[in-house]
Amino acid sequence: MMLGLNGLSRRWVGLLALYIAILSLLTPAATVKHDNFKTCDQSGFCKRNRAYADTAISNSKWESPYSLDQASLKFDNGILTGVVNKKIINTDESVRLPLTVAFYESGTARVTIDEEKRQKGQIELRHGSKASKQRYNEAEKWAIVGGTTVSKGAATSQDTETGTTKVVYGPGSKFEAVIRHAPFGVDFKRDGETQIKFNDRGLLNVEHWRQKVEKPKEEKREGEEEKKEGDEAVVAESDKSAAEDESTWWEESFGGNTDSKPRGPEAVALDVSFPGYQHVYGVAEHTGPLSLKETRGGEGKHSDPYRLHNSDVFEYEMDSPMTLYGSIPFMQAQKKDSTVGVFWLNAAETWIDITKTSTSANPLSLGIGSATTTQAHWISEAGVLDMFVFLGPKPQDVIGAYTDLTGYTQLPQQFAIAYHQCRWNYVTDEDVRDVDRKFDKHNIPYDVIWLDIEYTDGKKYFTWDPMTFPDPLGMNEQLDEHERKLVAIIDPHIKNEGNYPVNEELKSKDLAVHNKDSNIYEGWCWPGSSTWIDCFNPKARDWWKGLFRYDKFKGTMKNVWIWNDMNEPSVFNGPETTMPKDNIHHGGWEHRDIHNVNGLTLVNATYDALLARDKDEDKHHVRPFILTRSFYSGSQRMGAMWTGDNQADWPRLAESIPMVLSMGISGFPFAGADVGGFFGNPSKELLTRWYQTGAFYPFFRGHAHIDTRRREPYLAGDPYKAIIAQALRLRYSLLPAWYTAFHEASVSGAPILRPNYYMHPGDEKGFGIDDQFYLGSYGLLAKPVTQEGQQGQDIYLADKEKYYDYFDYWTYEGPGTVSVAAPLETIPLLMQGGHIIPRRDRPRRSSGLMRYDPFTLVIVLGNSGDAEGMLYLDDGESFDFQDGAFIHRRFLYTSATSSLVSEDVASTKASGKKAQDYLKQMESVRVEKIIVIGAPAAWKGMSDVEVSEELGGGESAAATRRVPLDWHEKDEGRAAWAVVRDPGVRVGGGWKIAFA
Ligand code: GLC
Repeated sequence: MMLGLNGLSRRWVGLLALYIAILSLLTPAATVKHDNFKTCDQSGFCKRNRAYADTAISNSKWESPYSLDQASLKFDNGILTGVVNKKIINTDESVRLPLTVAFYESGTARVTIDEEKRQKGQIELRHGSKASKQRYNEAEKWAIVGGTTVSKGAATSQDTETGTTKVVYGPGSKFEAVIRHAPFGVDFKRDGETQIKFNDRGLLNVEHWRQKVEKPKEEKREGEEEKKEGDEAVVAESDKSAAEDESTWWEESFGGNTDSKPRGPEAVALDVSFPGYQHVYGVAEHTGPLSLKETRGGEGKHSDPYRLHNSDVFEYEMDSPMTLYGSIPFMQAQKKDSTVGVFWLNAAETWIDITKTSTSANPLSLGIGSATTTQAHWISEAGVLDMFVFLGPKPQDVIGAYTDLTGYTQLPQQFAIAYHQCRWNYVTDEDVRDVDRKFDKHNIPYDVIWLDIEYTDGKKYFTWDPMTFPDPLGMNEQLDEHERKLVAIIDPHIKNEGNYPVNEELKSKDLAVHNKDSNIYEGWCWPGSSTWIDCFNPKARDWWKGLFRYDKFKGTMKNVWIWNDMNEPSVFNGPETTMPKDNIHHGGWEHRDIHNVNGLTLVNATYDALLARDKDEDKHHVRPFILTRSFYSGSQRMGAMWTGDNQADWPRLAESIPMVLSMGISGFPFAGADVGGFFGNPSKELLTRWYQTGAFYPFFRGHAHIDTRRREPYLAGDPYKAIIAQALRLRYSLLPAWYTAFHEASVSGAPILRPNYYMHPGDEKGFGIDDQFYLGSYGLLAKPVTQEGQQGQDIYLADKEKYYDYFDYWTYEGPGTVSVAAPLETIPLLMQGGHIIPRRDRPRRSSGLMRYDPFTLVIVLGNSGDAEGMLYLDDGESFDFQDGAFIHRRFLYTSATSSLVSEDVASTKASGKKAQDYLKQMESVRVEKIIVIGAPAAWKGMSDVEVSEELGGGESAAATRRVPLDWHEKDEGRAAWAVVRDPGVRVGGGWKIAFA
């Protein structure tokens, strides 16, 4: 029985039951339907390029047919331009491919290859409409927001003997690009050592423009030569090889859908080698280990390339290179003490083959001195070839350079990093109010409750079901009493029904995506027949903006935020559950060109809409919150993502950790998985362990499918309810650390959850570890339990440092693996020596109610005896921090002077009104407790410490006083610890505590 149906009429219960019955018919079988999704072999361009690679690699005489026309080269102001010629083998013909190699101030290099013949013009579609003939070159418009200032220092030289052009660039001129003329290729070096090679294996392939030659089908025989037609009908001998199977050039069918390809074959592919690098990470989103597997078959390896083609993959499977909902074509390679990376800016369907080769100088050396080279073969269906190169050497250098280009994760409102309660669906507004009250009754904190598609009137977004949600404003006001929020779902498919103004306007204003015949595209999604907003059209985005205004989307108010789902886009009756590739978007681009960036454009439009909603009325406008399922490089600027429709089983719980880690190192750290698992009913143990894991997801939301039983934390019963509540309290008490970590991400792109390789890039043993992670810069090392019945956890410590159990201060010493007890009520969580962790320990109902709560500082002393930690704080909701309205402190404990000081991190004192007002507001917020773990034995017997605090009002003198210190002796394996009780110092001010 469903809970919380009070107030729902019998009729509606009946209708709901019918609806659920229909849905369960739609609910898929237990595993992914492989037949719905292509393998590389079923995807024409992927198959062609793999075959091309096989030909190249198996033939020792293979020579890449691409060469740089030396005479065409120009170097001007940090940008090298020229023409690469693709020779059509066995002819004198060649295809001209304009090349640009740009060198940026940041040390990033960028190689772009276009195709001259496609650069201009349009082609006629079957019904007289036009599509662009150009290779798509606007992914940049959506993904790139900075980092492209051209380097003034880059210098070039030609070496005629070796036929190369060299460019020295980057910070301290440490980087070098060696451009080989024939065959064309580029080697990237750092400090004289080659790190990345383009076209080393000769797999560069730019499928050139051909005029379609119509021939009666029956006349065409295998191996027959095409006739030349004008100068464009070039179908060369080389293209007749197995590598260029023509069968999918002009048309391709899959699963009953036919893709007409008006522009013919136009794939781009490039091989990228990382000599000496054993591990590659990235190309999210996939399941499977953080360190990517080889993809050309063999024991424990994948046999298909990693695929990026944003799709609604029902019940996706574990450890698979299959595509998922989002794409980040950014890859990092790791070897001891060196990280480098590449970013393939392309919005079309993409496949990435990964292979590794080992070389050993001496076959008898038993592997000593051998080196692994990892090779990636990038293959995209359309678009220009556009690759960015990052030369490190540290993981953060690479991630920082990538996020410099694509943008940093937005600093979320504080509520957004607290706990979210969702399910499909809370069925009435009374149901929502009831859940809200029950959290309070059971003393469990939460910040946000969510409404899935059923709140709408018949799946018409921007409406409320009048029977089940008669009073949305009353509901939202109740939530607001405890500073809680509502998130409502708004999907991009618009119910194709008369009398629905949103649909009528979309059509009459011509703002929807078109089909290949230039009519409005109609497909099938939650509402049945639907149309899709085309967010590539500026007018459509403008119109979308209007829909979110409070007077338009009635029933919403300031505490209502948005969930954009199904934005891959998901189309139930479309090819591979998405849109036909020959659909046409604004600007004449085919859906094929833009598919992977499509989801981002919707979120972009929603973000602008939410900003506009508040702007007119209030100068204190707040930061939008949006959750998206589909994403591309750059989506991190606008909100959070989650890993989609997972299942309530143990392997999925385990899988969620590498998935969230992978997002974090890909510039999109605001990530999480459905806590509890979407499909199915978790056991109470699984649900409890999932909350303990979820308490460490940057985006922390419980969610469940409509067919599942209710599972709000308060329903879990003893002892589960209390244990789940503890996990939630842990999250809430660490919110200051989380918020500071988000702040760091918002200015540097740094991951929030940090895998071992990121923290310890010199420790090769840790490069494959992806089931434990550090939180921010706090040395908090967690390894959640993800197996049924598990009572203990082995944690890998990479460094020679002291680690303490978070809860009982049991002491461990690295390096090595240590065993930690982990009964159900315990989360394996250690604190690495050397850090200071800020907390707020007072239990509250929501994070908003913690605004003026005092702080606890936990000083974790390690081998050096010193410790450091940051705290960033602002109003947690508005953009006022941009005007200096924030507190940013560094806490430093120095063993030499036995003192703890609080320093201002902001280099200039904020003097504006907003800044002053904020500081004033925070004047009374104090540090109420300081806990020192691993406290020096010399403190034994000490009963108090000296506190000196800067006086307010511009006086520089400090007032001193003494406050008590409690000493706690070492106990078995537990560290000695000390507590300074109520030092009373201002969290936003300067002060010093002398432990003497
Ligand atoms: C999709 C989403 C899921 C949501 C459902 C109904 O399956 O991934 O989270 O509950 O649609 O909107």
